Amino acid sequence: MKITFYGHACIGIEVNDTHILVDPFISGNPKASHIDIHSLKADFILLTHAHQDHILDVEAIAKRTEAVIVSNYEIASHYGNKGFNFHPMNHGGSWDFEFGTVKYVIAHHTSSFPDGSYGGQPGGFVIEGEHKNIYIAGDTALTMDMKLIPMRTKLDLAILPIGSNFTMDVEDAIIASDFIQCDKILGYHFDTFGYIEINHDEAKRKFFDKGKDLMLLEIGAFVEL
Ligand code: NI
Ligand code: MN
Repeated sequence: MKITFYGHACIGIEVNDTHILVDPFISGNPKASHIDIHSLKADFILLTHAHQDHILDVEAIAKRTEAVIVSNYEIASHYGNKGFNFHPMNHGGSWDFEFGTVKYVIAHHTSSFPDGSYGGQPGGFVIEGEHKNIYIAGDTALTMDMKLIPMRTKLDLAILPIGSNFTMDVEDAIIASDFIQCDKILGYHFDTFGYIEINHDEAKRKFFDKGKDLMLLEIGAFVEL
């Protein structure tokens, strides 16, 4: 499993030969100006919620790639009504896709589309594929529901928001990593705007001091599990 950071909350996942893109917000992110949305591969686009900083490039990418848009019922149907391929889910449900199993799990946040219309309830994803298990938390507060994840899934990596203001901060992400019983964390949802700027060295040291590993990837860089 190869995991690429495309800036903000956008993650690319390669499992076998399948390309999964999560929360594409690239063309609106000046820090990701070296990433070309017209050359990104996508067989599936997973969306945690409907906020602009998670869906901006969905239509451009899905139109070209014919990717299947996977999200909560409201978001998936929104794109289905526009003619895109879609797969609706809801909290607690799993589906076996060609690349592995996806479970849509609880996130504490909001989820309106940019025009204010209802974007269902926000979520995160637990993805099991190629004998590796990852958790993408989406935008969320620290929540007790995270404790449910390791009861079903032993995680190899968790992708957690750490920028504060709209989501968890570093300290809460450390507690989250205890809740999900995963000490290998990839941080996201930081630095994109002034509200969520963080001190990288301090964040990494706080994780290190608790015996945990916080990875912060350059935009376009990847890790392999
Ligand atoms: Ni959000
Ligand atoms: Mn966000």
